[in-house]
Amino acid sequence: MTDPGERLRSSLAADLPPPVAEFDSPIAMEAMRATRVLHAGDQDPFPAPGRIRVVTIANQKGGVGKTTSTVNLGVALSLFGLRVLVIDLDPQGNASTALGVDHVVGTPSIYDALVGESTLAEVTHPTTASPNLRCVPATIDLAGAEIELVSVVAREHRLRRAIEAHLHALPAEERPHYVLIDCPPSLGLLTLNALVAGDEVLIPIQCEYYALEGLGQLLSNIELVRAHLNPGISVSTILLTMYDGRTKLADQVADEVRNHFGELVLSSVIPRNVRVSEAPGYGQSVLTYDPGSRGSTSYVEAARELAVRGAELGPLVPVQPAPAAAPPTAAPPLNALVLGQSVATHPQENS
Ligand SMILES: Nc1ncnc2c1ncn2[C@@H]1O[C@H](COP(=O)(O)OP(=O)(O)O)[C@@H](O)[C@H]1O
Ligand SMILES: [Mg+2]
Repeated sequence: MTDPGERLRSSLAADLPPPVAEFDSPIAMEAMRATRVLHAGDQDPFPAPGRIRVVTIANQKGGVGKTTSTVNLGVALSLFGLRVLVIDLDPQGNASTALGVDHVVGTPSIYDALVGESTLAEVTHPTTASPNLRCVPATIDLAGAEIELVSVVAREHRLRRAIEAHLHALPAEERPHYVLIDCPPSLGLLTLNALVAGDEVLIPIQCEYYALEGLGQLLSNIELVRAHLNPGISVSTILLTMYDGRTKLADQVADEVRNHFGELVLSSVIPRNVRVSEAPGYGQSVLTYDPGSRGSTSYVEAARELAVRGAELGPLVPVQPAPAAAPPTAAPPLNALVLGQSVATHPQENS
């Protein structure tokens, strides 16, 4: 069985309670899962969302798992049957690396769509992870974009416009169900573009000291964007990452985050798992690198929750900006673009 999606589904179908008591040690469980990876099994595909979900993965702290979560959630969604576009908006290009997409200088990249005149279609690349998953890579050129964009007209709306034009141009059956935007670790113009482009924010929070530090600033920035630039944006999802079950601290942080954010927090938690950190070194997600690992199964469960929540959303009534805050040229809500609906009939289509 060589298809990575098939292998993964098999391994997860296998991740059931052990049939006999002899499988009650962690090593035996691991061995059992690994063995079952090699055997056929199946799981239902994830449910499609009621509308295209443009999810911005943001947290201005570095090293909290933004890129890892973007990549692995994207791969999980795509291996379970959904079309995904990952947009790498970090000049480091780590998401591009993990998806096996070249990002040396000169590669057509998000920079060309933001600062130049390229369409997203022209800078979208296939990935090694799944035919359902495509990626717009970031090259180091993007580091200059924060400055170059300052003098560009409608600089905060560049990414949104590019995504809208792309989605409108694609035939309905090729439109991604999910557009995941991996932000850099800052609150500059790139992250601002991502917040204006998205209709949801997913915030990964690391189960470590200072996890909540700086979150207030991110949340107030999101509020500002909502008031002035993108009335449709809101925090939809919090994902706890790098959870270490051996420490009391991880539990304390998780409890604190759940008390604060309630149902926004996914019940699936991503454990600290060495396979997760090894995978990018092989140009892979952990799901393709080691499907039976805890890192892999937890990202699949998180993606499943995300998909189930998405399926419950249904088509949105477009959010109208408050009259006082409405910029005269407010872009039409992306979430008004319903999957499978002919754009030609949509009244809000860009002219
Ligand atoms: N669950 C995990 N277990 C172990 N290492 C992880 C996990 N998630 C992320 N990492 C590692 O932590 C580092 C920071 O993660 P990354 O996703 O790049 O963060 P960010 O994009 O927020 O800067 C990377 O080296 C990554 O491989
Ligand atoms: Mg990153």
